[in-house]
Formats: sequence, C-alpha cells, structure tokens
Amino acid sequence: MLLDDLVRVTERAAIAAAKTMGLGDHERSDRVAVEAMRAELDRLPMNGRVVIGEGERDEAPMLYIGEEVGARKGDPAAPAVDIAVDPLEGTNLCATGTPDATCVLAAAERGGLLHAPDCYMDKLVVGPTARGVVHLDAPVAENLRNLARAFQRDVEDLVVVVLDRPRHAQLIADIRAAGARIRLIGDGDLSAGIAAAVRGTGIHAVMGIGGAPEGVIAAGAMRCLGGEIQGRLTALDDKQRARLHALGYDDLTRIYRTEDLAPGEEIVFSATGVTDGELLKGVRFFGGGSRTSTLFMSLQRRIIRFVDTIRREDLSMPVQFN
Ligand code: FBP
Repeated sequence: MLLDDLVRVTERAAIAAAKTMGLGDHERSDRVAVEAMRAELDRLPMNGRVVIGEGERDEAPMLYIGEEVGARKGDPAAPAVDIAVDPLEGTNLCATGTPDATCVLAAAERGGLLHAPDCYMDKLVVGPTARGVVHLDAPVAENLRNLARAFQRDVEDLVVVVLDRPRHAQLIADIRAAGARIRLIGDGDLSAGIAAAVRGTGIHAVMGIGGAPEGVIAAGAMRCLGGEIQGRLTALDDKQRARLHALGYDDLTRIYRTEDLAPGEEIVFSATGVTDGELLKGVRFFGGGSRTSTLFMSLQRRIIRFVDTIRREDLSMPVQFN
C-alpha cells in the first residue's frame, strides 16, 4: 500500500544525511536530507501536498509549505495526501555526530494535519499512562504530582526532557524544585516526545518551548501511540509576534490539543534514525550498502512496526548483518 512506501522516504533521507554525519556542515546535512526526501516523495503514486515543510515558498527551494509532491501531483483521481516533513530533525546533532538525529514525516488524508505556522510552540508531551492528567496551564509541580500518581511512583522517580535553552531557566528551576529529574537535550524535542510516549525509555514527559512544526508531527505520532501533546503557539520576541499577527494568529492563548494538531483518521508516521538514539539505531554503512532502522506507525491499521532495512548498493559485496 502507498503509505507503507513512506518508510522509503525517511530511509533515503537518513542515508543521505548520515553520509554527512560529523562533518560540521549543518546546512549540507539538511540540504541532502531535503533533496533525498523530495526525490522519494515524487516517486509515490499520490497527489501529495506539503503542509509542514522547510518554510514558506520564498524561503525554501524544496519541500516548502504548499508544495505539491508525488508522481500524481494535481491528479484529482489520485489519493490526496497531506504531508508534514522534518527532513532532518536535529540538524546540529547530525553535523556533530551526536545521538538522536532522525528523518521524520507524518502523513494523513487531506486536512488531517494542522497547517501550523513555522514558529515556536510551548509544549507538554506525555504518553498514554498520563494522558488527561496534565495541563499546559497548570503549575509545573502540580503536573509532576499528577504524572507521578499516574505512573504510581514518586515525583523523584520521574524524568522530564527539556531543551537546553536560556528561555527554560524558570521551567528547569520549577522542575528541580518539585523534585523531578531532568534530561537536558541540545536538540530534538520531537524524538524526545516519542520516547516519552513509550514505556521503558525512562522518560516521562517533555516540557518547554520548541518548534511548532515539530509539535504537529509529534501530534501525529501521539495519535498513533495513544499519547498526548498540548501546545500553544508562542512568539519569543516582538518580530515573531508581528509575523504571527500578519499570518492571522492573534490569539496566542489557545491551547492546541493532540486532535487539533493532527485531526486525521488515516495518520501514518515514519522516522528513520540518522545517528544512534533512544529508540532507533543510526544508519550503518558497510562496504556494499547500508542498514537503516525505522519506526513506522499507522493509526488506522493500529500498527507500530520497526523496519530494519539492508540496502545492497553493490551486489558483488557481501551483506553484513552486524
Ligand atoms: P532542526 O534540526 O530542524 O534545526 O530542529 C532542532 C530543534 O531542536 C527541534 O527539535 C526543536 O523543536 C527546535 O529545534 C528548537 O528550536 P531552537 O533551536 O530555536 O530553540
């Protein structure tokens, strides 16, 4: 089925990005991932439209918001698919060879993913165990108490992931004061959100301000995993506020729930590891090819699939299994 083929899209992007791992050139890492993702999307027999992409049309040469993709783009008889892409989540992580860089996309039927602006979002992400017990506007200590109750443990035994940014100084202080532990990350709050939604990762929530596009893609993943994200569009300065205002977003108090961000019924999600991470291994290259590790999920079909793919580029070379 078409949507399964989306796995190939993130796999190809990850292979391209992984070839640039640790080269210190984050622009190149991002560019090759975007190019690979774009080329693969165009092979799929769909009438696709990018709803979350690399930016507005005038600032992104490829995978810009509104761009039509797919081998049958513009064909009303073809499956109409909305696509939210993050061709390289954690560009800096890839450029520095640090864990948790991934290539990610979510797709849905038309209208199934919110066309959110490219701005910041204040987020709270929890897994199914804590769904419905936290609120973005509740004091941090109260959320942590409720989280601890849901997990049947002490607050001290919780781990919250927070992006390591100066803007989170108060949040970090509040979490520490409440007694919970923190894992500060340099980048990649989307992967962290997925880890929070899965038991056994040792991560119980993600809190703080990150990208709004990542919030929409995370919501797609939460729909597939039964987790929850609450998000509020946020401007960090007057310029960002003016931009949001110009785009028609005047109410910056609204909290978007999981189903607001990803309302679709046919949501699929695919993430391929670029560098080794919590849930996914990074791309490994051997003499004649590569091996990738992908998390693929479908809401409608209720499946979560780990796809381990060996690609043989040179058939004369032996396959390497580990
Ligand atoms: P990119 O790889 O697209 O640059 O995003 C990485 C990331 O850390 C996201 O995971 C996060 O949501 C966002 O950037 C945070 O933005 P900022 O680095 O501006 O604080």
